[in-house]
Amino acid sequence: MIPHVNTLSPQHLLEQLRWRYATKQFDANKEIPADTWSAIEDSLVLTPSSFGLQPWHFVVITNQETKKALLPHSWNQTQVTDCSHFVVLSAKINPDEADVDEFLNRTIEVRGGDLESLQGYRDMMLGFMNKMSPEERLHWAKNQTYIALGQLMSTAATLGIDACPMEGIVPAEFDRILKLTEKGLTTSVACALGYRSVKDSYANASKVRFDKKDLISNL
Ligand SMILES: Cc1cc2nc3c(=O)[nH]c(=O)nc-3n(C[C@H](O)[C@H](O)[C@H](O)COP(=O)(O)O)c2cc1C
Repeated sequence: MIPHVNTLSPQHLLEQLRWRYATKQFDANKEIPADTWSAIEDSLVLTPSSFGLQPWHFVVITNQETKKALLPHSWNQTQVTDCSHFVVLSAKINPDEADVDEFLNRTIEVRGGDLESLQGYRDMMLGFMNKMSPEERLHWAKNQTYIALGQLMSTAATLGIDACPMEGIVPAEFDRILKLTEKGLTTSVACALGYRSVKDSYANASKVRFDKKDLISNL
């Protein structure tokens, strides 16, 4: 067991979060090393979600042809083609009872126990989900993917990897190119990751944030 220690100082954390910015121009010649990328993928997997249901799938694209196919459906933002790894965060279109059971089976596989002892939890999750319309369920699933996006960006920044979160995309076209619809998935948001180009002037722009006192109330 790893002892609980503060491995990252508050100063170091803030240094990394101030260092990060939505990268507009990546250095197309730089690739994220395999061990670093592997840790980023593990971080995505570790993202928490409501009830733990993980109603998502993450598509990692390094193939240049696929990136090029997505470019015109990304407002021609060149981050898509110049980044090292392009991640499409997709949500389950209609999370249902089968997804709840898949999750419960996984819980039993990991923690032991049986379905009977999880019946109360099952009923609670289904009660929550059955109250929602299909549109609301999709909206809820997409909300979960934004938690993964936040985790992805913070993880990348902590590791000194640049990223650009991207909503400037056409989800329907992404779904078609990546064949997501037939898997019951739909594109929610994307994120390009890699290394900033020395030419990207945005790297030196001051952060525009409201004052802490206006954003946080300490009661
Ligand atoms: C969900 C989301 C979607 C975004 N979509 C885009 C995008 O498509 N293209 C882009 O250049 N920046 C995009 N951004 C970047 C924001 O404009 C940027 O994060 C914001 O202006 C704050 O600046 P900073 O990230 O550099 O601190 C997006 C950010 C978020 C969180």
